[in-house]
Amino acid sequence: MNKRIFLSPPHMSGNEMNYIQRAFDENYITSIGSNVTGFEEKIKAITGAKHALAVINATAAIHLALRVLGVDENDEVFASSFTFIGSVAPILYQKAKPFFIDSDKKSWNLDPTLLENELKRREKESIKMPKALILTHLYGQMADIEKIITICKKYNIPTIEDAAESLGATYKDKYSGTFATIGIYSFNGNKILTTSGGGVLVSDDLELIHKARFLSTQAKDNFVHYEHTTFGYNYRMSNILAGIGIAQLEVLDERINKKRWIFEFYKSALSASKEIEFMPEIPDSIGNRWLTTVLFKDYATRERIRLALENHNIESRPLWKPMHMQPVFKDADFIANKTSEEMFLRGLCLPSGTNMSENELKRVVKIILDK
Ligand SMILES: Cc1ncc(COP(=O)(O)O)c(C=O)c1O
Repeated sequence: MNKRIFLSPPHMSGNEMNYIQRAFDENYITSIGSNVTGFEEKIKAITGAKHALAVINATAAIHLALRVLGVDENDEVFASSFTFIGSVAPILYQKAKPFFIDSDKKSWNLDPTLLENELKRREKESIKMPKALILTHLYGQMADIEKIITICKKYNIPTIEDAAESLGATYKDKYSGTFATIGIYSFNGNKILTTSGGGVLVSDDLELIHKARFLSTQAKDNFVHYEHTTFGYNYRMSNILAGIGIAQLEVLDERINKKRWIFEFYKSALSASKEIEFMPEIPDSIGNRWLTTVLFKDYATRERIRLALENHNIESRPLWKPMHMQPVFKDADFIANKTSEEMFLRGLCLPSGTNMSENELKRVVKIILDK
């Protein structure tokens, strides 16, 4: 059996152990130390965000974002339907109510027209506005972010940019995660960069990051003893994992270039098949192409190819099942236009690990073309 090809396995830079060693040398093994500070500083330097907070994962980062924006029981939160559960599960942690919005075909991300129409309708009919909006940049591809932020500003709705999958992606040279009130990144094991597990919250609003930092460290008030006027979480990133993060950030550009090269390789190698559509890239944006994702002509073709790849020990994965179709959200409100539903049925994520060789890519392509 050929060696398994994974979807997007970790890819170390080689410098990680030096930063881990530093944590050991300084004996800062817990959630403060020079690696955590260095990691937060590096995120700011790369993305241009003014403030950053490193936490245990991006799901926790979104949870903190909702808390600091004051989302509470029975508040409504608008969110992209076409996303991963980690993006929206924190709405349930807060006992708030999700309201899902479908994607457009141009970006595969949240459709600004659906959003604007719903907000206009609410204004006209004096219906309560959402407390916040969470929008995802799927698979490293920028959403129509400028439009979405403009609409939300008009209605005074705070925004959370789920850039878990899109670290390093830009729109008009501005980095994903830095358009909204708060942005978040994931350093989960399958992401473009990883700390084994990790997340970061960014914002230009220092007050929000202060609050998030306070809540991420069990909401300890400023006394010698442990005094609490509210409750928080144990969400801080460890100094050891932050060391991995610094070394990973050193190779972000390299990783994006390789991801984009993989996408182009698939695109040109599969161009013979007229029935395969590739994820678009909206004008003025450069995605990080975290995963190369394609649409086949129908569900049956998608499944045939997925199973053929699996039989050859190659991992691929259907696109995210939209949240408005998930049993856990059966009672949630949504506006759907069939875009994400259709993409879920026809779409497949192809192996896109930055440590893949050209021969491995050719193995994948051959199976797809043979089927
Ligand atoms: C779009 C999206 N949002 C949120 C998350 C949650 O990130 P984490 O695994 O770091 O909690 C992920 C991935 O894991 C994701 O892909």
